[in-house]
Amino acid sequence: YSRIAVFASGQGSNFAALIQAQNAGKLGGGRIELLVSDRPEALVAQRAEEAGIPALLLRPKDFASRELYEAEIVAELQRRDIGLVVLAGYMRLITPVLLTPYAGRIINIHPSLLPAFAGKDAIGQALDYGVKLTGVTVHFVDGGMDTGPVIAQRGVAVEAEDTAETLAGRIHQVEYELYPEVVSAFAAGKIGLDGRKATISE
Ligand code: GAR
Repeated sequence: YSRIAVFASGQGSNFAALIQAQNAGKLGGGRIELLVSDRPEALVAQRAEEAGIPALLLRPKDFASRELYEAEIVAELQRRDIGLVVLAGYMRLITPVLLTPYAGRIINIHPSLLPAFAGKDAIGQALDYGVKLTGVTVHFVDGGMDTGPVIAQRGVAVEAEDTAETLAGRIHQVEYELYPEVVSAFAAGKIGLDGRKATISE
């Protein structure tokens, strides 16, 4: 089994979708062993409790630096023998303290076709720009904001009558399908890195 930690800051609907996939036997050899959140009051923390998944809830502002905050996280990941880190709406940049020990083993999901519309409110950015096609990207994490080698992308058409809510609804549905698929392949060792390119084997 591949032991997974999910990092999330907010609602945690992707976290919930991953748990559901695991319960349905669709996470392959992956097992979610820990939630890490930088916002103890977030809904995702409640979801972890309801699902019986241990949570590490730390406020970055209680630490003297981002590095010390992450060092505490890394210690917990190592205590729990976590192999893969899955960011699901974790709204912070990652430093080398976490990136170095988990090189090639941290992935993120983002609600746009990267490199378009990185950062916050990708769905609002796409609507404001007026693109006809947006979507979802899963990628390896590096030190940047929503950068790093792309693993998978799926397009979502923008309709003339879309609002932020209707478009977000369709994008989230795609996320809930795509992320478990990628996490399952990742846990099975089918996703790798060759220089700057993600590689996927069947
Ligand atoms: C998701 O749509 C995820 O793609 C996005 O945050 C949302 C979290 O929702 N992530 C980013 O924008 C990363 N830059 P959730 O908490 O309900 O899973």
